[in-house]
Amino acid sequence: MKRFILLFCFLNTTIMAQQKPFVANYDESKVGAFTLPDPLVMGSKKITTKAEWEKNRGYWLDLFASHMYGKLPKKKLKQVNTLISKKEILGGKAIQSIWKMDFEGKVQATVVVILPTAVKKAPVFLGLNFCGNQTISTDESIPMFDKYVVCNNAPDFVNYVSQPSSRGVWATRWQIEKVIDAGFGTITAACGDFEEDHANGYKNGVRTRLASALGLKPEEWTAMGAWAWGLSRIMDLAQNIQQIDPNKVIVHGHSRLGKAAMWAGANDQRFAAIISNESGEGGAALSRRIYGETIWRITNSFPHWFLPKYATYSDRENELPFDQHILLSLLSPRPVYVASAFGDQWSDPKGEFLSTREMEKVYALYGKKGLGNIEMPGLNQPVGQLIRYHIREGKHDINEYDWEQYIKFGKEELN
Ligand code: GCU
Repeated sequence: MKRFILLFCFLNTTIMAQQKPFVANYDESKVGAFTLPDPLVMGSKKITTKAEWEKNRGYWLDLFASHMYGKLPKKKLKQVNTLISKKEILGGKAIQSIWKMDFEGKVQATVVVILPTAVKKAPVFLGLNFCGNQTISTDESIPMFDKYVVCNNAPDFVNYVSQPSSRGVWATRWQIEKVIDAGFGTITAACGDFEEDHANGYKNGVRTRLASALGLKPEEWTAMGAWAWGLSRIMDLAQNIQQIDPNKVIVHGHSRLGKAAMWAGANDQRFAAIISNESGEGGAALSRRIYGETIWRITNSFPHWFLPKYATYSDRENELPFDQHILLSLLSPRPVYVASAFGDQWSDPKGEFLSTREMEKVYALYGKKGLGNIEMPGLNQPVGQLIRYHIREGKHDINEYDWEQYIKFGKEELN
């Protein structure tokens, strides 16, 4: 009988959890009060100098790893980078090369590298794409991605598989020519080459195929971790390409891939600057602010992105030992750009702004400035310098306006 009651209670709470309405709060008056943890207080230790911060920043990385994103492998693998093709594009303004990265014969990833011909050692924007390299440009020599993609809008994608018409469908998200004209390069690979974006994606990705080589069990890390790891491996490739300035690689990402870019930037300090484009919950937005997407919602919809432990903080966000401003603080002292869109309230623009504003405590240890004590700016009015923020008009996307700001940021902050 007792067992029955226990089973009943368990099923009931499980069903209740599933039934919690998928309705988000968009009412500021219902956000509730919260206090943010201080990035400079680590348990009983109070950090007062840059040297102390650098010595102890692992405290926060470990907490993010054990509560949210999972561990990242420490072992280095044999990575074989092979140049598949190379040609001039954009009327000779750029050279496009396709590389294949092979990890122990078990995982392969295809990387597109587009560099300005006029620059000897180019700064580059490095980021993952959602639905295949072929979506960034109509160039026929870019191999069609043949694994699962999250896109499913016919005729370009059918049953989550890319179709020939998907070439260039997301060219506006990459603005390749604008980037080249500004003297920057573009490097990208599909996130699905590291882990397909669904609950069983790990079975076919680096977490399973490289488990023994990397010495990590699949459940010890997450899809976010697999994508962040992929970003660092693309960085390894970039470091070996003569025409790239190894000290000027900017990691960027939109939305879920912005979350991954932030996690990559926090762990891999070779990234010279970091851009989060509408990364929202689990990215730049504060988890304690109950507005738009919440821990409950994200961990129910995308259980593979984070550790199961993160889901246990739903409805008790205040008990999380950190919040996302601390992830941003881990990017110090490098330039960081956080961007929101007004039409993307789901990502909680205000929560993204507030966490960006909170970064400056750590930057101050380096004598560097943050956003200062400012209010949220109006639409299309970027604020800050080394740490920048904008909220633009329009929907959830990364568009020409965003790229204009990122190029300006790259030029000003990486020189
Ligand atoms: C969903 C998800 C977000 C994510 C976004 C995206 O909306 O809830 O957390 O950022 O997809 O990746 O586009």
